[in-house]
Amino acid sequence: MTGEGYQIDLRGKVAVVTGAASGIGRAITRAYVAAGAKVVALDIDDAGVRRTAELCTAPGSVAVLHGDVSDPVDVAGAVALAEDHFGALTTMVNNAAISIPGNVVETSVEDFDRTLAVNLRGVFLGCKYAIPAMLRAGGGSVINMGSVNSLIAEPVLSSYAASKGGVLMLTRSVARDYATSGVRCNCICPGWVDTPINLAHAERMGGIEQVRRDLPNWQPIGREGRPEEIAATALFLASDLSSFITGSALVADGGMTAM
Ligand SMILES: NC(=O)c1ccc[n+]([C@@H]2O[C@H](COP(=O)([O-])OP(=O)(O)OC[C@H]3O[C@@H](n4cnc5c(N)ncnc54)[C@H](O)[C@@H]3O)[C@@H](O)[C@H]2O)c1
Repeated sequence: MTGEGYQIDLRGKVAVVTGAASGIGRAITRAYVAAGAKVVALDIDDAGVRRTAELCTAPGSVAVLHGDVSDPVDVAGAVALAEDHFGALTTMVNNAAISIPGNVVETSVEDFDRTLAVNLRGVFLGCKYAIPAMLRAGGGSVINMGSVNSLIAEPVLSSYAASKGGVLMLTRSVARDYATSGVRCNCICPGWVDTPINLAHAERMGGIEQVRRDLPNWQPIGREGRPEEIAATALFLASDLSSFITGSALVADGGMTAM
């Protein structure tokens, strides 16, 4: 993004990006590095996160880390690596998530608990361990990956929607608690974006090709979003251009929730 006085520049920023091996997390990592940031890229998928680093314009700006966001030790370790390796933490992108489709009756207790552990406890842990580091750094930006399902429900997506609703309220709570401390906290709410997380849900809706045919009926822009389009919102929220924005749900959904 360019414009007189309005160029996004993340030089001096150090981010942790979770779920960095694929889709939106990979696109955010690449965008941050291209804008001059250093990134700790965390995922359970080691090969995928290494590939993300290779794809970056400056691979040396990325420290890859195996970690499970539901594990407090792994999340605290990512924050510590940012401080030890890159000198500070200014930006926390709580992006990793899973989607196990189902209504409440058919969803197992184990699948519900696992969904909440990754999608909501993972975000909680990211906030919990990142904020003290950001305060040490003089401020920062927490970016939580919500979903349109933070705002609206869809069929057979009960545990995922519950987790994403929680992400939005956790975002607002953090924003209120740290509004005067230099730590901002916002939530991105993407619509349907072309990544692997949707495949199981698509199967429940007649298969990915059927979903793509039906998509203009519920995502007015008439196409899937691209990971890079969500990364652009994360770029803005990480930058000082968004310095007055905290506690917000930034919706990037091709108009889905406008219907
Ligand atoms: N794709 C969409 O349509 C869409 C829409 C709304 C919101 N989102 C959100 O965007 C975020 C990124 O999803 P995506 O679309 O890129 O999907 P994706 O499946 O491409 O990427 C998810 C990544 O998270 C990682 N991951 C899963 N569990 C993990 C764990 N316990 N610890 C660490 N990493 C873990 C996976 O290995 C994978 O690399 C998620 O929060 C998702 O809910 C996606």
